[in-house]
Amino acid sequence: MMTIKWNANLYDQKHDFVSKYGESLVNLLAPEKHEHILDIGCGTGDLANEIAQFGAVVFGIDASNEMIQSAQQKFPTLSFKTQDATMMDYTHQFDAVFSNAALHWMKQQDKVIDNIYRALKQQGRFIAEMGGQGNITSIVGALRKSLTELQLPYEEHFFPWYFPAAEEYQKRLERAGFTVEMITLYERPTKLQGDDGLRNWLVMFSDNVLQHLSDHEKELVYAKCEQLLKPDYYQDKQWIADYRRLRFVATKA
Ligand code: BEZ
Repeated sequence: MMTIKWNANLYDQKHDFVSKYGESLVNLLAPEKHEHILDIGCGTGDLANEIAQFGAVVFGIDASNEMIQSAQQKFPTLSFKTQDATMMDYTHQFDAVFSNAALHWMKQQDKVIDNIYRALKQQGRFIAEMGGQGNITSIVGALRKSLTELQLPYEEHFFPWYFPAAEEYQKRLERAGFTVEMITLYERPTKLQGDDGLRNWLVMFSDNVLQHLSDHEKELVYAKCEQLLKPDYYQDKQWIADYRRLRFVATKA
């Protein structure tokens, strides 16, 4: 399995847009008092905390121990655990499962979806948002092109993400037994804070793709990506990432 090393500090300082944009997903979840809610890939816990504000009992898991340590420090009264979603073994425990910007990191989708289905009570709901088909196409394209231009190899198997189309993901959910109430793929251009926004994004998220390179070579790739993307994705001192989200509501009938 792929290990992804997260930098919880950098994540909170520069990438809190991940949780900020997720805010309305919590409204879609509409947590109710005393409901038991599992937050998968909770990161540093901001959305789990928001869910808890509704009076729900939230349990956050994340495969990154560093993220969980940070979440637990920030929100000492909430429950968190370092756990990979493929290893979950909960049965009929949760009224809802929630996940924002995490599922696209997971390679064993069917295993994860089965685990989520089992974790839910009857009539329970699964509400999530993840990168969908076409997500960050320009950034991935720039990474590939930069490597080619710098005569460095692009290793396809280092690509860590799964960005599905709506139909494809709906089928997966239905195969596991879910009824899909809503599923939509939408464009959500996302601001990356500051002049170094793209570089910070690459430092944070391209570790897998560039794992075969030296630090010096990585620097060359970052600079090349900035050069390639600047004309179309940098305006008014602001970088924009071409995010595309897949958002859905599914229920355990
Ligand atoms: C996303 O949220 O779409 C995303 C974040 C980091 C890397 C890839 C995709």
